[in-house]
Amino acid sequence: FVTNPVKIMKCDSKFEVFVTRADMPESGIEMIRRECNVKLWNRSSPVPRDEFLKLVPGVNAIYCCLTDKIDKELLDAAGPELKAVATMSVGYDHIDIQECNKRGIRVGYTPDVLTDATAELTVSCLLLATARRLPEAQAAARDGGWESWSPMWMTGPGLADSTVGIVGFARIGQAVARRSQGLQHQRIIYCSRTARHEAKEVGARKVEFDDLLAESDFVICCAVLVPETRHMFNRVAFDKMKRTAIFINTSRGGTVDQEALTEALQHKIIRGAGLDVTTPEPLPLDHPLLSLNNCIVLPHIGSATIDARKTMAELTAVNILEALKGFEMPSELKI
Ligand code: DGY
Repeated sequence: FVTNPVKIMKCDSKFEVFVTRADMPESGIEMIRRECNVKLWNRSSPVPRDEFLKLVPGVNAIYCCLTDKIDKELLDAAGPELKAVATMSVGYDHIDIQECNKRGIRVGYTPDVLTDATAELTVSCLLLATARRLPEAQAAARDGGWESWSPMWMTGPGLADSTVGIVGFARIGQAVARRSQGLQHQRIIYCSRTARHEAKEVGARKVEFDDLLAESDFVICCAVLVPETRHMFNRVAFDKMKRTAIFINTSRGGTVDQEALTEALQHKIIRGAGLDVTTPEPLPLDHPLLSLNNCIVLPHIGSATIDARKTMAELTAVNILEALKGFEMPSELKI
């Protein structure tokens, strides 16, 4: 039994919205469905590119997520009736913003509503789990590697009195800093294009990228993926880090040269890494990063709390509805 991959939900509206996933949170879809005709990709996996190109001609808005590439080809296929693209994500590197701007297509995204969830995963889960080697320790407990309590077995660095360096100090970077304060890091330093007044509240000091790499015990990447940040964590960068440093990335895999990271971990240029994002996603099962015991890889779950995902879905819906009515989106990307 194979269901139709496309579900049409009609109401009495002149607008049609294409939704790229069947498992978008229900409340968001419902908001759109009440006011617009909906064409839904009725699968919980991403819409294949050739289908995507075939399904968008004539739609007025696209409700998408970070796995859907919205580029010139897709916008051409959609045609002049497309007025809005709203992504259920804060990241927008999958959307050609310039091309949308050129065509007057409004772009919505979901900042703020996932900040806490993402910062929580970054600090309270990934950083702690990497430092204290939780997956390795649990595997040992399960597979017989736990022979007895042993003085230096499964030890890792503590967080108190360490220096945490945050790269990218916008909403998520700042929320990471607030949580780091609670963990009594001795110093919080950050680098970003501009000095941020919010840094004072958490006692964070702005430094140059190279100084951050050299001084940090924990280097946390919260930078958006733009051409200037692509592969900013490369061989040169890992060489500048302390040999005891732990690298955490919850932004985008594209900020990291993964080959360089793999080598840095294999040759103990740095101590460990915790990644919630990779290139590609999912990471192929035979990728060397997945076999290193000093690397934790999570499947891009930074914002995966039930509330965050629901709120993201609803904000995406409101972004579309407001744009179609000719109003400003509550979270409109303007760059
Ligand atoms: C985003 O919204 O960009 C996040 O990466 C999703 O968790």
